[in-house]
Amino acid sequence: MAAHIGSRKPDGTTLANNFHFNSSSPEETFRLGRAIGEMAAPGDLILLSGPLGAGKTCLTQGIAKGLGIEESPPSPSYVLVREFKGRMPLYHMDLYRLGFEEIAELGIEDYLSGKGVCVIEWAEKAGSLMPKERLSVNLSYLGELERGLEFIPDGSRYEFISRRISQVMGSMPKGDN
Ligand SMILES: Nc1ncnc2c1ncn2[C@@H]1O[C@H](COP(=O)(O)OP(=O)(O)OP(=O)(O)O)[C@@H](O)[C@H]1O
Ligand SMILES: [Mg+2]
Repeated sequence: MAAHIGSRKPDGTTLANNFHFNSSSPEETFRLGRAIGEMAAPGDLILLSGPLGAGKTCLTQGIAKGLGIEESPPSPSYVLVREFKGRMPLYHMDLYRLGFEEIAELGIEDYLSGKGVCVIEWAEKAGSLMPKERLSVNLSYLGELERGLEFIPDGSRYEFISRRISQVMGSMPKGDN
């Protein structure tokens, strides 16, 4: 897993708090998710975006593992919110099939004030409906087994998580599952 800090804004300056990871297997993406899950605290919000097959559910399955959840969150369905029980609950949402009105009615705030962690796939569809403080992860397809993951933390809690994850992933030997 290659990681580096900082990404370029269109004007060429650097967004110092962003982190890039390159994953070269589903297992690697899973491990990255697991590291997030191990650090997660109640009320954390993780927004996942990127095209079909980018690895959002794969990352979510790692997060679930890191939360001590034994079940593996499945791919999208017509269920709006799935709850999994671990060290703390995971609320897994997929906005792919939802319109703006339905997203507004989900009541995201209720989940965030609860005891668990919210992970939302296709979060880009929610636009301004999402709270300002969150960890956004933008996934991109780079090749059959290659994916790019850009961590964009908003708020000091999420900056801390991102920095910590980059340290953990930088020191983790490949193949450590
Ligand atoms: N490096 C990688 N990281 C994650 N998944 C990978 C990687 N390489 C290959 N894959 C494959 O890509 C697919 C990712 O599927 P996944 O369901 O996680 O995508 P998704 O972003 O949730 O898609 P959707 O928008 O349909 O929900 C899986 O089949 C996985 O095996
Ligand atoms: Mg998915």
